[in-house]
Amino acid sequence: MIILGIETSCDETAAAVLQKEGDRIQILSNIVSSSLELHAKYGGIIPEQAAREQIKAIIPVITEALEVAKVRDEDLDAIAVTYGPGLIGSLLVGVETAKTLSRIWQKPLIPINHLIGHFYANWIADSPKFPCIGLLVSGGHTDLVLFSDHNTYQYLGGTRDDSAGECFDKCARMLGYAYPGGPKISKLAALGNPKAFTLPQPMSHSKDLDFSFSGLKTAFAKLLEVNFIVKKGGFNKTTSSWEQTPLIENLEEKDKQKIYDLCASLEETIVMTLLNKTVTAVQSNRIEHLIVAGGVAANQKLSTTLKLKCKQLGVKLHIPPPSLCTDNGAMIASSAFFAKEISNPLDLQADPNLSLS
Ligand code: KG4
Ligand code: ZN
Repeated sequence: MIILGIETSCDETAAAVLQKEGDRIQILSNIVSSSLELHAKYGGIIPEQAAREQIKAIIPVITEALEVAKVRDEDLDAIAVTYGPGLIGSLLVGVETAKTLSRIWQKPLIPINHLIGHFYANWIADSPKFPCIGLLVSGGHTDLVLFSDHNTYQYLGGTRDDSAGECFDKCARMLGYAYPGGPKISKLAALGNPKAFTLPQPMSHSKDLDFSFSGLKTAFAKLLEVNFIVKKGGFNKTTSSWEQTPLIENLEEKDKQKIYDLCASLEETIVMTLLNKTVTAVQSNRIEHLIVAGGVAANQKLSTTLKLKCKQLGVKLHIPPPSLCTDNGAMIASSAFFAKEISNPLDLQADPNLSLS
């Protein structure tokens, strides 16, 4: 079975062709085009501009995915597409393109919830067993679910305000870095001492499996204020761009070390918060498999910490390679191999507010 997966929920335009033979899922092509460089100029993603870039990129990206896979449209068994959640303009580009191709090529159209899609990156070259706990850590979501089978899950808890990814992104922004901030914080953190600063571990004593990361952002901002004179950047109307020199570039060596320590302490706090609730979910449900998904799962500190803990607990941990943690079309095609639903191409509507709960 060969499926084309299309993903356009945020700034990326992505398409991938995957093949399933028996239990084995193989990537034939996986193309991701991003407009991040354009957005860096504005300090963040501008939804209308992202959608305009995606309109230009979608056909070349799909064409390239088919060419690299050496697959013709008649070889496809189905087309899968993300229909939510995400930015409405961006979702529409993928959904309307998939609907059109499905009609023209006479192929079934499979709608995929982006959040479920992230989990299915774990079924490419791996096969987690049910029941399993799923930890989703993407840019907009931090959720824990209990899967009893494919596409059958119970929502256990999630963030009450900001996601862990948002916390990484906004703290990086305070240091003068554009989206996505997670990889930048992580790079600086590698040079720092995670015990140097004490940050609050949000909701660590709550009995539920919910998270909260907004207070952590505030605590980080306060520590920055106390330790450094923060030079605030802003939008320059003359050059029409976001201007902020990364704070670290103007600091002396001893102060640079404080920034590394601050980033390491932030990363440690986020990782420990995620770890503690995930372990509670695994133990209270007596689960032997844990699947982790979403952009923040690309964080090395998170993956090594989870690996160590899972080894102690005798739990099998599944995390996709970093390139399959962030948004891509391969995870969408992978989900489609297990999906039950097929859409009428004339009826499918993008849903920006789709969730797991
Ligand atoms: O799943 P994703 O690519 O997009 C959404 O569906 O939101 O996740 C993006 C998020 C951003 O918050 C980004 O900063 C974070 O994933 N991220 C990381 C790393 N790589 C991406 N966070 C921490 N460490 C990383 N290495
Ligand atoms: Zn995503």
